[in-house]
Amino acid sequence: MPITVPVLPAGVDPAWLPREVWRPLGSRRTLVDGSGPLVETVHGEVAAGCARYGGAVVRGTRGARGAPGVPDGSYDLVLRLVHHGGAGRHTDPALLASPGEEGFVHERSGGTTTVTASGQRGLLYGLFHVVRLGEDAFRGDRAPEAHRPATELRMLDHWDNVAVHPVMGQVERGYAGGSLFWRDGSAVADLERVRGYGRLLAACGINAVSVNNVNVHEAEAHLLTDRVGDVARIADALRPYGVRTHLSVNFASPVLLGGPACADPLDAAVREWWAEAVRGVYAAVPDFGGFVVKADSEGQPGPFTYGRSHADGANMLAAALAPHGGTVHWRAFVYDHRQDWRDRSSDRARAAYDHFATLDGEFADNAVLQVKHGPMDFQVREPVSPVLGALPRTRVAVEVQATQEYTGQQRHVCWLGPMWSEVLRFRPGGEHGSAVGALARGGMVAVSNVGDDPFWTGHPLAQANLYTFGRLSWQPDAEPRRILDEWIALTFPSAADRLVDGLRTVLHGSWRTYEKYTAPLGVGFMVQPGHHYGPGVDGYEYSPWGTYHFADRDGIGVDRSAATGTGYAAQYSGPWAELYESPGSCPDELLLFFHHVPYGHVLSSGRTVVQHIYDTHFEGVAEVEEARRVWAGLADLVEPARHARVAERYEEQVRCAREWRDQVNSYFLRKSGVADERGRTIY
Ligand code: GCU
Repeated sequence: MPITVPVLPAGVDPAWLPREVWRPLGSRRTLVDGSGPLVETVHGEVAAGCARYGGAVVRGTRGARGAPGVPDGSYDLVLRLVHHGGAGRHTDPALLASPGEEGFVHERSGGTTTVTASGQRGLLYGLFHVVRLGEDAFRGDRAPEAHRPATELRMLDHWDNVAVHPVMGQVERGYAGGSLFWRDGSAVADLERVRGYGRLLAACGINAVSVNNVNVHEAEAHLLTDRVGDVARIADALRPYGVRTHLSVNFASPVLLGGPACADPLDAAVREWWAEAVRGVYAAVPDFGGFVVKADSEGQPGPFTYGRSHADGANMLAAALAPHGGTVHWRAFVYDHRQDWRDRSSDRARAAYDHFATLDGEFADNAVLQVKHGPMDFQVREPVSPVLGALPRTRVAVEVQATQEYTGQQRHVCWLGPMWSEVLRFRPGGEHGSAVGALARGGMVAVSNVGDDPFWTGHPLAQANLYTFGRLSWQPDAEPRRILDEWIALTFPSAADRLVDGLRTVLHGSWRTYEKYTAPLGVGFMVQPGHHYGPGVDGYEYSPWGTYHFADRDGIGVDRSAATGTGYAAQYSGPWAELYESPGSCPDELLLFFHHVPYGHVLSSGRTVVQHIYDTHFEGVAEVEEARRVWAGLADLVEPARHARVAERYEEQVRCAREWRDQVNSYFLRKSGVADERGRTIY
């Protein structure tokens, strides 16, 4: 039986799957051939499209048995699941012969478009590929093309609390309303929207979701044991779209949940407690993905308490998960958050590498080391974390932050595709080495930006970040602007050229615009403490969090060189250590991350540091004002609710950008005493 497609609650935005995207496929004749639950999902999707647009779907089950196909010529589209090897029968290159569990082969000849896959998820992704192509899927001939994801694990981590947390609310760093999954301490009663979420995720290639916060408070800890039924209900809703469910767990769960009195990873009773807990999870969720763990980090418990290493901790959980095929995602976000700002020898940026590089080769096969893309904390500009290139014998995953904690909190437009793409294309070993996108064998993870807001992401244009993440996780070397165009075409079907141009204008450069009016030249932070929104130049300057800029009357920046600074620059290999070591060769955009320089230091752009600060802050505000104007001019082309929501947020973005400009510029004028060359108003 086909599954029925999810019906979103009234008023919820269809995001990148509005009904019109089904027209090309739904008005044609399709054969869905094969058997299995995800094939039923594919069948259900095609049937719904056909019911709406007058096409027809025929259900075959022969492909699954590997029998020769039914006469394909009578269909416009054939979606077929075949046994291994079958997918490549028209051509021989290796990839075509074996697109893998999640890949598919797409071709067109004699008026029939064919998608063949040897795994059910592959068929689902092939279906959405056809949806993305629209009418182009049914034109001309197309030689067989194999598509498959670069990595098996393409995941969203939800920082959702089961119950409202007194400080962090329901979703930690959430800017899109409450949780999609949890309400009042339990899984939401009606999971139809969660099903719809799974469908949106499948349509951009995401296949895993961790459903609770990495800071696992007591209410969330119980999801592992007595509340696992709630997890199972969510997993049931996501499963038809090929999305596996993961849980964040507290390292001290045995202690918290009434097991052994310690959580020592080498203690036999502790290990048995975890093995038993994991058996319980798999009894409830047979395809459970595994655990996410934040240990010894920002107050969370971890193996250090017992004098054990992080490999010991991760491997204990890996051992419990291994018999069931689960994976532990162990986060590398480990640093001292009780630092003394007077102590110039400790450097938070060094911490992940110092803790983990020596553990290379010690992690179990089903343990993944999940590394934030930069060494600090999702700032608008950071160098790529040296950890990503430092553990060749470890499965490493890259973690990015779709939720815009430090990039405007979904009140500002900040399309992060170009930033993520720079990270994924970075080659830690130099130009002849592999790119991060290829080194990340453990997968790609984003902190989700989604909540129960009708637009999913609070700011309607922030949907582009979620979509872009999914597509980049599938193909890390994809051109982000091409992905953005895909998102525009799906979200705004049959958009006039003026709308397409307008959307490109306001989104393409929005990350760099945000960078211009906030913390300069890679120095980071300068946000208001706690909530992290808006300017607070000295907000973290004398705090224990290790996030300093060291501005004084002469200069600014953190000396992280090996020669005179914290030595962080030497954590890089290949040409990078040398490049970052000297202010002369360090790229402008990272200068203050790596060096403390005088305000009069001349950048490679030819401007002094302080003049760069003034100029970029004026430019950044002007760019936001211009984007607001462009958006206002699109009012006749966008549905009123969406247009109004974005317009209202532009008012706030302009206000906040001006505040950033004026505070940052005034701060540096007062510190340095250097006037703006162009005599603009600085307070
Ligand atoms: C940031 C963020 C926290 C979060 C942490 C993490 O520090 O502000 O809210 O818990 O990252 O990634 O664990």
